[in-house]
Amino acid sequence: MKNRKGWAGGVLLALLVAVGLALAATAPDTVPLDKVKDKMAPVVFPHQKHAVDQKIECKTCHHKDAEPAKAVVSCYNCHKAAAEGKTPDAKTAFHTRCQGCHKEKQAANPKAPIKCMDCHRKS
Ligand code: HEC
Ligand code: HEC
Ligand code: HEC
Ligand code: HEC
Repeated sequence: MKNRKGWAGGVLLALLVAVGLALAATAPDTVPLDKVKDKMAPVVFPHQKHAVDQKIECKTCHHKDAEPAKAVVSCYNCHKAAAEGKTPDAKTAFHTRCQGCHKEKQAANPKAPIKCMDCHRKS
């Protein structure tokens, strides 16, 4: 019994490592969010920190993608500088998703930024 459990544990560990490597391969470490920058400095989005360290589900952000781990459509494909029909503009989309979560998490985790300059950093 002991050995079988050890074996199963080994397989599970190998699987977890494989999944981790697959994610590391598809998801970028950081992504620049700068397609509509006009008044504010561009935002450097720490993708790994969210998707891997914080284990936030891909779907939380990639809300229109069936399988974000395989392929994602850029937010900017749909969310442009100005709203189009029912599709909100990029600023609204990002502020709603990004700041929205940070406001919820602030009390528990002060590292989730809500101040303008903590995201719109002048480098
Ligand atoms: C959690 C991160 C975050 C915080 C905090 C944040 N923003 Fe943004 N904001 C973004 C992202 C991402 C974009 C999209 C940037 C782009 O595509 O150029 C954006 C876009 C904008 C834009 C439109 C683009 C531009 O440069 O004109 C304005 C204006 C803006 N933010 C103002 C603010 C102000 C004012 C605050 C503080 C009250 C703030 N933001 C706080 C992430 C954030
Ligand atoms: C907290 C929000 C968030 C989470 C969670 C998230 N992503 Fe992303 N992801 C983004 C944003 C924002 C972009 C870049 C903006 C754009 O161009 O659409 C992006 C870009 C990507 C890209 C394209 C990178 C490039 O350079 O073109 C891939 C691939 C990706 N994400 C995969 C994933 C996978 C897989 C997961 C889950 C393990 C995930 N993402 C979780 C927000 C997120
Ligand atoms: C294929 C097009 C498409 C892509 C790609 C897309 N969105 Fe959206 N998004 C929409 C549409 C359309 C809506 C309007 C409501 C709905 O249909 O879900 C929306 C709504 C939203 C909302 C709700 C806004 C509000 O006022 O409540 C947020 C937040 C959002 N998107 C963020 C994002 C982010 C962040 C990304 C990239 C990681 C992204 N979207 C990618 C089409 C898209
Ligand atoms: C579902 C929750 C959630 C969403 C959605 C989310 N974040 Fe975060 N974010 C966090 C948490 C939690 C942290 C604190 C991470 C830590 O403890 O280091 C954080 C930290 C950050 C930091 C600071 C990282 C550092 O190194 O100090 C930036 C910048 C940031 N987020 C930008 C964004 C942007 C831009 C988006 C939208 C594309 C976004 N976040 C969406 C939860 C979220």
